[in-house]
Amino acid sequence: MKIGIDKIGFYVPKDYIDIVELAKARNVDPDKFTIGIGQDKQAVPQPYQDAVTMAASSADTILTAADKKDLGLLIVGTESSVDESKSTAAFLMDLLDLPEDIRAFEIKQACFGATAGLQTAYDFISNNPGKKALVIASDIARYGIKTPGEVTQGAGSVAMLISQDPRVLKLDHKSVYKTRNVGDFWRPTFSKTAFARGKFSNEIYVDFFKTLWEKYQTKYDVTANDFSTMLFHIPYTKMGTKALRTLEGTVSDEKYAELTDHYQESIKFSRAVGNLYTGSLYLGLLSYLVNGAQAGEKMLLFSYGSGAVGELYSGEIQPGFEDVIDKASLLKMLDDRQKLSISEYEKLYQIEYQDGTIVDSAKVDAKFYLSEIKENERLYKKSK
Ligand code: HMG
Repeated sequence: MKIGIDKIGFYVPKDYIDIVELAKARNVDPDKFTIGIGQDKQAVPQPYQDAVTMAASSADTILTAADKKDLGLLIVGTESSVDESKSTAAFLMDLLDLPEDIRAFEIKQACFGATAGLQTAYDFISNNPGKKALVIASDIARYGIKTPGEVTQGAGSVAMLISQDPRVLKLDHKSVYKTRNVGDFWRPTFSKTAFARGKFSNEIYVDFFKTLWEKYQTKYDVTANDFSTMLFHIPYTKMGTKALRTLEGTVSDEKYAELTDHYQESIKFSRAVGNLYTGSLYLGLLSYLVNGAQAGEKMLLFSYGSGAVGELYSGEIQPGFEDVIDKASLLKMLDDRQKLSISEYEKLYQIEYQDGTIVDSAKVDAKFYLSEIKENERLYKKSK
């Protein structure tokens, strides 16, 4: 049975900051941020947006009534959860009008969450042919103002519908993975912002990629020549470049040039959005599908979540995938955003809603939003 991604959707908040302006405000050479880190814009969520509202928004772009009827599984991968008990998935049930005959839950393992969800969905579809699974990645990456990680922040969500006979990406069911207890990045429950050992995290990421690529080649008796594209988890776009560079000299110059060209297509959206944490790899997939993919291409996907779990797996782009991707709407969503000044962004960053907050719906510029916090319970609404 063929199983994989049948549809893929994306949501990014409507506000962003310009990375050159951020560099200037932080007295940094802009080239460091645009070339050294590899970013152009960074998405900034409003205080009435969070992992729940963004997850609802990305799923809303792809789900039809027929999809909802066939759903048997809903998984949200996030490390920006709004509740230590109730899952982000449970909040989505009424926001998305989903039938109750669904197994819904949340998965957390840093940026690996969505991949854990995707592989779980694969198994679910194998056991329940004819059903569909919805896997959503939704995160706000926050390191704090004037921290080294600030330039690698971002926000957004990617939703994927998993089914048999997928129209976008067939998963090969070939995969290698690795877990090690590592202190490269963490966010204690008391903190809204993450802590990172930046340089160390880069080393672990590259080390995981190298080990898994060796393992994949041995396990499946393949080489880079069996693939035309490698996609990477991209917390910032230079990170994937660092991993890709480890192949230079180990593959032919032509293959390295092809992989590099395709990588450039896969990072266009991330350059304009920033870090989606667990959605980053899948934003790379979407960017590649919109900007360069060809039907029949074999690709490798490297997923990495600090802490740390890595997985390298493969898939094949399906004929007619272009018909399932709403390219015009995706590009419009990215183009129609408004730029915030750095001081406006800093002010927004400090706002934290407390119990008793009631959000003025007239000031909301999003379909799904946090409407109220009542008795410490977060309540959400869909605008008409
Ligand atoms: P930093 O110390 O500000 O930057 O931290 P740097 O000094 O390392 O410089 C960055 C790059 O800019 C370097 O290039 C410089 O040479 C270059 P590289 O050596 O890396 O190729 N540079 C310039 N280039 C052009 N013109 C200039 C210039 N000046 C310098 N004038 C760091 C950067 C990414 C470490 C920091 O932003 C950080 O800590 N970020 C957060 C951690 C992170 O993203 N780690 C990634 C791996 S871990 C991961 O992916 C998991 C994660 O997604 C979390 C999860 O799983 O949930 C983060």
